[in-house]
Amino acid sequence: MARKSRKKKQESILFAHQQPKSAIAEAFRTLRTNISFSTYSGAKKAILVTSPSPDDGKSTVCANLGVVMAQAQSRVLLVDCDLRKPTIHKFFELDNRLGLTNLLAQNRPLDDVVYATRVDGLYVIPSGPIPPNPSELLGTAQMGDLIKGLRGAYDVVLMDAPPVIAVTDAVLLAPQADSVLLVLKAGTTRIEVAQEARNALQNSGAKSIGVVLNVIKANGGGYYNYYYSYYGDRNDQNQTLTT
Ligand SMILES: Nc1ncnc2c1ncn2[C@@H]1O[C@H](COP(=O)(O)OP(=O)(O)OP(=O)(O)O)[C@@H](O)[C@H]1O
Ligand SMILES: [Mg+2]
Repeated sequence: MARKSRKKKQESILFAHQQPKSAIAEAFRTLRTNISFSTYSGAKKAILVTSPSPDDGKSTVCANLGVVMAQAQSRVLLVDCDLRKPTIHKFFELDNRLGLTNLLAQNRPLDDVVYATRVDGLYVIPSGPIPPNPSELLGTAQMGDLIKGLRGAYDVVLMDAPPVIAVTDAVLLAPQADSVLLVLKAGTTRIEVAQEARNALQNSGAKSIGVVLNVIKANGGGYYNYYYSYYGDRNDQNQTLTT
C-alpha cells in the first residue's frame, strides 16, 4: 500500500496535470505516444531520464511524462534517483524523509517509501535523505534488483537521474534501466556535450529510446514547448521522427 502525501500545496511544474489543455501538456502526450511506438516492448518498462548538464529539465520532463502516462491508464512509478539534488518530492509536495536511500542503505520495506500522488495511477519513491556516497549506492547489485522487482509491479518505472557529464551516477544507472531518454536544452546544450553524454551512456551499455529537446519557445507565444526525436531502439539507427 502506498503512503499518502502529508502536504496539500499545489504543484507548479506539473503542467500536464495542472494545465491539461495547454500546448505543453499536449507536447508531453505526443512524447508519450512516440515512446509507445518504440518497437521493442522492454524499452517502455524502466526508463532512465537524464541529460548532459545540470538544469536541462530532466526532472520536469520525467515528472510530466509520469503524469501523462498515468493519465493513459498506466500504473506508473517515478523514482528519484538523483541522490545529489533531488526534486521530485518537491514537485509532488511529498515528504522526503523516507525514500530510495532508505531502501538501499537500510533495507526498509518498499511500502514505507512509495507515495501515492494526486494523479491517479502515479506513484513516487522520493530520494530519501542525501547520502555521502550516492554513486556507491546507485551502482550496487541491490539497486539493480530493486529496479527489476519494480518493473514487475508497475507498467512503467521512470527514473530521474543526475546529469551525465558531471558525475558517474547516470552512467551507473543506465544499464539497470531498459532504456534511456536524453533531455537536451534547446539553444543551450552544445552538440559536443550532447555527443559526449550519448557516448558515455552508450559505452555503459545503455539503450537509447530517444531525445527530448526541452525549452523550445513557441512561435509568437509566451510558453515553452517540448519536441521529441525518436531515433530507434538501437543505438546505431538514425531515423528521426520529430513532432
Ligand atoms: N520546458 C520548460 N519550460 C519552462 N521551464 C522549464 C522547462 N523545463 C525546465 N524548466 C525549469 O528549469 C529549471 C530546471 O528544471 P529541472 O529541475 O527539471 O532540471 P534538471 O535537469 O532536473 O536539473 P538538475 O540537473 O538540477 O537535476 C526549473 O526551474 C524548471 O522549472
Ligand atoms: Mg533534476
